[in-house]
Amino acid sequence: MHPMLTTAVKAARRAGQVINRASLDISQLKVSTKQQSDYVTEVDKLAESAIIEMLQETYPTHAILAEESGSSGQAESEFQWIIDPLDGTTNFIHGLPQYAVSIALAHKRVLTHAVVYDTTRNELFTASKGSGAYLNEKRLRVSKRSKLDEALIGTGFPYRSFDHIDAYLAIFRELAQKTAGLRRPGAATLDLAWVAAGRLDGFWEFGLSPWDMAAGALLITEAGGLVGDLTGEPNYLASGNFVGGNPKVFSQLLHIMGPHLTEKLKA
Ligand code: IPD
Ligand code: CA
Ligand code: CA
Repeated sequence: MHPMLTTAVKAARRAGQVINRASLDISQLKVSTKQQSDYVTEVDKLAESAIIEMLQETYPTHAILAEESGSSGQAESEFQWIIDPLDGTTNFIHGLPQYAVSIALAHKRVLTHAVVYDTTRNELFTASKGSGAYLNEKRLRVSKRSKLDEALIGTGFPYRSFDHIDAYLAIFRELAQKTAGLRRPGAATLDLAWVAAGRLDGFWEFGLSPWDMAAGALLITEAGGLVGDLTGEPNYLASGNFVGGNPKVFSQLLHIMGPHLTEKLKA
């Protein structure tokens, strides 16, 4: 394992300890609201500090972009860590065991290492550019399913911004009828890891943040899948609109979404 990935794994496990300890008594959680339907707990913040502390100990000159504390470190660095300390906070607050830690490293803006750690199942997903994706020790491949009517597709429902609800629901309506099923587990980073693992054949969501997608996107491409924005271009980290899947399902998802997209969603 590359030393940078090893450090990221250690940081993710440390955050996992913070999260698991807190999950034993969620009645004690102090929850605050960042904006409507956007919650944060002290666990998100503690887990993020634990990750940043560990990364900075080893790589003091790297830049950091983290959900709760924003940008820190040396902005001019070629290396940037992209961190979601607890993806799936709403699930976590409800005691619904579907959440994960997500850490990615970009070098000169190219995603190079990724860790997604599912603390409830003790499943560690890792990838390094050019070296494949793994679940614990096992090499991952995206699914081989090519027929959309046999495909299981993950998504994230709009819950905070409803600007694109009509386009979203039009796509949902069509895919609900043309696939084997749609799922909304509630932690985007794990949804992407599950596409890499072949548990889901594809995934789409509008309005994500870079820390929701960065690690999972590298997992998917290193497992042989494709990722992109809603037009299939590589602009997803900037636009926040994401499609991923095995290559056959990915192109069928884009084909179905195309006619429903507004100009804003194509950008
Ligand atoms: C959220 C989860 C959710 C997705 C949201 C994200 P958070 O992240 O990934 O599945 O639908 O768009 O914001 O806030 O729990 O870290
Ligand atoms: Ca998130
Ligand atoms: Ca989060």
